[in-house]
Amino acid sequence: MVKIIVDGESYMGKIIAFCNQKGGVGKTTTAINLSSYIAQSGKKTLLIDADPQANATSGVGVNKREITRSIYDCIMGLAGPDELIRTTAVANLFVIPSHASLTGAEVELVAAPQREYRLREITRSLRERFDFIFIDCPPSLGLLTLNALVAADSVIIPLQCEYYALEGLTQLMDTVSRVKRALNIGLEIEGVVLTMADFRTKLTDEVIREVKEHFKNKVFTSIIPRSVRLSEAPGFGQPILLYDAQSIGAQKYALLAEEFLRRQEAAAIAALPADGALAAPPPGQAAAMIIDEPAAQVLITPENMVQAEGTEPIAQV
Ligand SMILES: Nc1ncnc2c1ncn2[C@@H]1O[C@H](COP(=O)(O)OP(=O)(O)OP(=O)(O)O)[C@@H](O)[C@H]1O
Ligand SMILES: [Mg+2]
Repeated sequence: MVKIIVDGESYMGKIIAFCNQKGGVGKTTTAINLSSYIAQSGKKTLLIDADPQANATSGVGVNKREITRSIYDCIMGLAGPDELIRTTAVANLFVIPSHASLTGAEVELVAAPQREYRLREITRSLRERFDFIFIDCPPSLGLLTLNALVAADSVIIPLQCEYYALEGLTQLMDTVSRVKRALNIGLEIEGVVLTMADFRTKLTDEVIREVKEHFKNKVFTSIIPRSVRLSEAPGFGQPILLYDAQSIGAQKYALLAEEFLRRQEAAAIAALPADGALAAPPPGQAAAMIIDEPAAQVLITPENMVQAEGTEPIAQV
């Protein structure tokens, strides 16, 4: 197969899982709002809801009650991802919805072959059509989260600025290490996002200091404050950029998205070989190049571009 990647025209989608087995720490809020700002910046972005609670699904405006087919059908091999991808009210943001039935997958997959690799298989073909694929995980380290970790290039860990913020993290980091060793050698920690900060309290300062000591430069400098507008937005099925773009929560998620994209660019530059030769960009970064069976290495420009296998625009649902 010939895969052509043209600057700004095709994709090497980076897959990022939002994980923390602790409930209510801001996984879904961060997944929705980071992905919508990244989409708004022009990056083609897919949000996969891998939590049976389906909060990311409703949070981007898909009515949970109207879902007939979801990521459950995909994971169980009953539907292909293309049948499930939906547009959202944010340009460039697409979603594969979840449904309460996904709870059953945890049980049904136990004895199934390749049970840890289902999401990886699903996302394999999607990589070529998106800049970023974000997976919202449930609050557990069960098979669904394991599937997300096996599919992902990296993990974002949202942490709530509260007592015991770091509680349970040893278990999460152990799980990430084990997945990296046994199932997904490329898995990295992308970063830690501090959420629900209340800067009036000493506790928030202490938690921020402790988390920075522990995770060093992995901690995103954009800290998300506690904001009523952020907690209201999901009730209206809107990311914060549509619900109240002027609110402080919106501004901080916009800054987080900028910081995230800056880090991706820095990583892409760091990965460039010293002699300036064209090389495969890290996931999430497009470059001008052609990959083929080793023989041909031909620079493709928009002028001599041909429509290549796997580069057709995604079907709009
Ligand atoms: N910065 C914030 N300010 C105020 N409320 C917030 C903020 N972030 C999240 N919330 C609210 O806190 C609750 C938990 O957030 P969220 O659903 O994002 O966490 P979660 O980690 O995905 O939860 P779960 O583990 O159940 O999936 C939600 O009601 C959400 O609206
Ligand atoms: Mg959630």
